[in-house]
Amino acid sequence: MKIILVENYEEMSKEAANFIIKEVKANPSLKLGLATGSTPVGTYKNIVEYFQNNTDLTFKNVVAFNLDEYVGLSGDSPQSYKYFMRNNFFKFLDIEEKNCFIPNGVATDIENEAKQYDKLLEKYNYTDVQILGIGNNGHIAFNEPNFTLTCETNIVDLKEDTIKANSIFFDNINDVPKKAISMGMKSILFSKKILLIASGENKAKAIKEMISGLISTNNPASLLQLHKDVTIILDKDAAKYIL
Ligand code: F6R
Repeated sequence: MKIILVENYEEMSKEAANFIIKEVKANPSLKLGLATGSTPVGTYKNIVEYFQNNTDLTFKNVVAFNLDEYVGLSGDSPQSYKYFMRNNFFKFLDIEEKNCFIPNGVATDIENEAKQYDKLLEKYNYTDVQILGIGNNGHIAFNEPNFTLTCETNIVDLKEDTIKANSIFFDNINDVPKKAISMGMKSILFSKKILLIASGENKAKAIKEMISGLISTNNPASLLQLHKDVTIILDKDAAKYIL
């Protein structure tokens, strides 16, 4: 694991944006795995800023795969991840809508939706670069700490701590969906490169355990130790226990 330590959230966002910009420039048909949540907002903002002020970056042929979506929220719901991606990233770029994939949280047959998402990932031979955040409890995408983990895209029961952490995006904690559809660890680990970003003291314990803890399904992030090309961009607060 390659660790890049920076001062704060702003620097983390710039560094992560530069990482992605470089990858897209090197491969204009990049298959890019995307995350949502608070952490990547600044990264997306910096990429958008670069895109708007320079002519040497295009997303015309980039294919985007999102990690997850809440079950029960349609793309029109402001808390859905589809809405998040559109309004924080896609609408500012020249990316083609047909190349932006995200699981459908309101599919009538949600189990089948998960299967189809896997088939799609397989068809594209998985992603080239996967951006990840990390949950306070060590979750990756919505693969929550558990006695066992599912390899494939699956329907997940969100843990209480995840629901609490994500309630900042909702008016009321009771509005946070209890389930999500999430890429499994297989598709994440099949990405050629992984970029994990983390900021803030509330991530420090999860970061330490991800890097130096035992590999365990009770700590899904620890599985990243098995991947040969992981870059972690951390701010000082998130790196508190590894310094
Ligand atoms: C989001 C996702 C999650 C988040 C994690 C951290 O697509 O897959 O694993 O990355 O919950 O969320 P934030 O960034 O809001 O702290």
